[in-house]
Amino acid sequence: MSAMQSDTHLMRILLGIGGGIAAYKTPSLVRDMRSRGAEIAVVLTENARRFVAETALQAVSGRKPRSTLWDADAEAAMGHIELARWADAVLIAPATANLLARLAAGLADDLLTTARLATTAPVYVAPAMNTRMWLHPATQRNVECLRADGVTVLGPADGEQACGEFGPGRMLAPEQIADAVVAALRTQRVLAGVRVLVTAGPTREFLDPVRFISNRSSGRQGFALAEAARDAGAQVTLVAGPVQLPAPAGIDRIDVVSAEKMKAAVATHVHTADIFVSVAAVADYRPTEFYAQKLKKSGRNGSEMHVLLEENDDIVGSIATAEPRPFVVGFAAETQNALAYGREKRLRKNMDAIVVNDVSDQAIGFDSADNAVTLIHDGGEVALQKMPKAAIARRLIEEIAALYAARAARKHTARKRDR
Ligand code: PMT
Repeated sequence: MSAMQSDTHLMRILLGIGGGIAAYKTPSLVRDMRSRGAEIAVVLTENARRFVAETALQAVSGRKPRSTLWDADAEAAMGHIELARWADAVLIAPATANLLARLAAGLADDLLTTARLATTAPVYVAPAMNTRMWLHPATQRNVECLRADGVTVLGPADGEQACGEFGPGRMLAPEQIADAVVAALRTQRVLAGVRVLVTAGPTREFLDPVRFISNRSSGRQGFALAEAARDAGAQVTLVAGPVQLPAPAGIDRIDVVSAEKMKAAVATHVHTADIFVSVAAVADYRPTEFYAQKLKKSGRNGSEMHVLLEENDDIVGSIATAEPRPFVVGFAAETQNALAYGREKRLRKNMDAIVVNDVSDQAIGFDSADNAVTLIHDGGEVALQKMPKAAIARRLIEEIAALYAARAARKHTARKRDR
C-alpha cells in the first residue's frame, strides 16, 4: 500500500476572461487567487481585450496573457493543449451570455474555448450579464447544459448592474470566486496519489434464469463517492452491481451481478488499494440452489413454495479483518436505532469508519437523489444533514482523506519509534 504522496506544485488555474464589463475586475481576481497560493495563466477572448488591459493582467499574474491560437511564440513556449493539461482548474470569468452559449455548444473557435475542450480539469464559470439576458430561457438552457457536463456555475449575484438595471446577473465579487475555486482545488487534491476501491449498487442472487433476490440500491451514492474520490486526485476502481448508471470518466469500472462475483472482484483489486469504501448493498443471503430452467408453478391454487437461503460471505468484514489491509470504510443501512446499530457494526466488522444512513426515510438512502448520514470513526462522529448525494460524497471524501492521512502519520511515527 502506498502512503499518500505529497504533491508540491502550486495550484494552477487557467483564467479565461470573456468580453463583458466585469472583465475590469479580473486583475483583482488574479491577485486574490495568487494570494491564496495559486499560479495563474490568463487567456482572453478577442472581446475581453476591449475591457481589460493585458499589461495589468501580466503585472498581476507574472505571465504574458494569451488570446489567440495563432501566436507562434506563445505556442512554442506552451502549446494550447499543454496549457489545457497544465491547469488544475479552468475558471471562466466573466462568462458572458455569448461565451456560455459557445461553451454549451462545445465550440472550439478561439484559444479559450479550445483549451476548455482540451482539459480534463474541473471547469468553473462565473456568469456576468444583463438580468434579462441571464433570465432568458436560452441562457438558462445553456447553463443547465454546462451543469450537466460537470461545469460548476458560480453565481451570478443579485444587485444593481452596470446598465442600471437590478436583478441577477452581476459577477460574484473576486474574493468570493477566488475562495470557491481555491477551496474546491484544495479538496480536489486531498487524495492525490491514493488508490481507492469502491463498491456500489445492489447484488442479484438468482433463483432461476428470471428470478432473483435483490434490493432497491440504485448505485448513486457509491458512484458519487467514486467520482468525489477521483476529483480528489485518487486513482479509483469501482466494482458495480447491476445499476442503470453511465460509467464515470476516469474511473476503472468492473461490473458484477452476484455477491460472490463482487467478492471475487474486490479480492482481485484490494491488494493495490489504500482505501476501500464498501457502499454496495450486498445481498446477505442467496438461494441455496440455482435452477437452470425457469421454475414452474405447481398448478394448485394457494400452494406454497419454500426457498432455502444461505448466507453470503461478508465482503467488507473479510477485508477489514485481514492483514495487510487498506483503510476500510463501510456503510450501514438501518431502519431503526441507526446510530447504535452503526456503532456496533463498525466494531463487529473491524472497520476504521462507518457511514450510517437511516433508510426508513424514503427521502434519503435507497434510490433517492439525496442522503443524510453520520460518519462514525474511532475519534468521533460527523453528522451530515440532507443534501444531494454528490455533496454528501464530497464531504465524506474530505473526512475520509483526513482520517486516512492521520492513520498514515500515526503508522509513520510508530515505525520510527520501533526502529
Ligand atoms: O445505491 P443508492 O440508491 O444510492 O443507495 C445508497 C445506499 C442506501 C445503498 C448506501 O448509502 C448504503 O447504505 N449502503 C450500504 C447498504 C448495506 O448493505 O448496508 P448493511 O448495513 O447491510 O451492510 C453493512 C456493510 O457491510 C456495508 O458496507 C456493506 O457494503 C457491507 N456488506 C454487507 C453484506 C455482505 N455480504 N458484504 C458486505 O461487504
